[in-house]
Amino acid sequence: MKLWSGRFQKSTDTLTDDFNSSIYFDRRLYKQDILGSIAHVKMLSKQGIIPEEDSLLIQKTLFEILDDIEQGKIEFDVAAEDIHMNIEQILIGRIGDTGKKLHTGRSRNDQVALDMRMYLKEEILNIRKLIKNLQIVLLELAKENTQTIMPSYTHLQKAQPITFAHHLMAYVEMFKRDKERLSDTFKRVNVLPLGSGALAATTYPLDRDFVAKELGFEEVSLNSLDAVSDRDFCIEFLGNLSILAMHLSRFSEEIIFWCSDEFRFVELDDAFSTGSSIMPQKKNPDIAELVRGKTGRIYGSLMALLTTMKSLPLAYNKDMQEDKEPVFDAIDNVKMCLPVFTDMIRTIKVNKDKMHNGAKGGFTNATDLADYLVKKGVAFRDAHEIVGKVVFSCIKRNIGLEDMTLKEYREVSPLIEEDVFQAISLEECVNKRNITGGPSEEMVKRAIEINRAMV
Ligand code: ARG
Repeated sequence: MKLWSGRFQKSTDTLTDDFNSSIYFDRRLYKQDILGSIAHVKMLSKQGIIPEEDSLLIQKTLFEILDDIEQGKIEFDVAAEDIHMNIEQILIGRIGDTGKKLHTGRSRNDQVALDMRMYLKEEILNIRKLIKNLQIVLLELAKENTQTIMPSYTHLQKAQPITFAHHLMAYVEMFKRDKERLSDTFKRVNVLPLGSGALAATTYPLDRDFVAKELGFEEVSLNSLDAVSDRDFCIEFLGNLSILAMHLSRFSEEIIFWCSDEFRFVELDDAFSTGSSIMPQKKNPDIAELVRGKTGRIYGSLMALLTTMKSLPLAYNKDMQEDKEPVFDAIDNVKMCLPVFTDMIRTIKVNKDKMHNGAKGGFTNATDLADYLVKKGVAFRDAHEIVGKVVFSCIKRNIGLEDMTLKEYREVSPLIEEDVFQAISLEECVNKRNITGGPSEEMVKRAIEINRAMV
């Protein structure tokens, strides 16, 4: 019999039970649900709403149920609809009428909001830790590569020389913001909705601050309608994961083409690559591709929940049961991506020579030649024009700027002297960019230190 069957003359169709039920996926909230109930019932007796002995029996039995679930001893009942009613039903099955007092002053609407908030708080911390592990690996790799010159790109055309460390540190910064966003969201998740009842709170003198303290919530919600009817905290969490996935996807994309024969900047460890069933020579960057691919479903989760919530009138609507699967799926996938991606990076082999050669081609030092002329008194626009012409003639001769002779340079401009070769050497190009945020060895080392102290 359903816990809400009083008003009904007939039992539900099995199709209704199957369709309505969320136990298949919300069972993962069992721990949050039980701990939330324990705090609630503790408070009920403290407030004199139910007798102390009933409260103690309920608490003890809920702990036993928690244990039994963890040991796989419990079979959930689809007809009981969701995790909240399953647990309540099991409780009542074990201790009878006393168990029926648990739901005093509470609704599933504030209960489910509570469970989701508790669950997200835990997962935010888990994901933050996984991002941190990735950052630590990136910082290590960056430290080894502050002198590893590579080309940078705009439009995927070679731009200016930087170092591999500088490139890696760009991602360290992105992941730092991803962590910050999660921490910021955590503050808004950290608000207790319990006590909001179905939507208009309750007449019982609940001590919400007590429950908040018991469960580790920083604040108590101030509007019962809002607390049961919004899922913005889930949406912003999915937004955070989407941005994180976008960063991982961009990084994956780069790793994928760095592994290609055209680049060969890096080689993945055998343990983190795969072969082809037909082409014996292949070594494919499947992990990076799957991480890139999973970005789609994480964005999808965000869009799904945004769309579900759009136009819902206040307060709770059953549509909102659809919040769980996207949130769970995004969490599961991000938690799969981060560790494998981290280990893939940890074991990556860097082809320093290939990177250096890459930086040598494509006139990555052209800006520095223009800057050299500027330092000799030429206006930047004129210098840009002059160097453009030099580049054009070098392309025709199939040589680099460093291959021109001083005599040839002096025909371009009599201001050019022997020191030009120093000025356009790749090492100089990188290390002269020695301001905060720049790729010079000194600045990147400093950025590594700052980030190390923060992760
Ligand atoms: N399983 C429901 C959900 O996830 C719990 C809340 C049900 N509330 C209700 N009034 N039917 O949203």
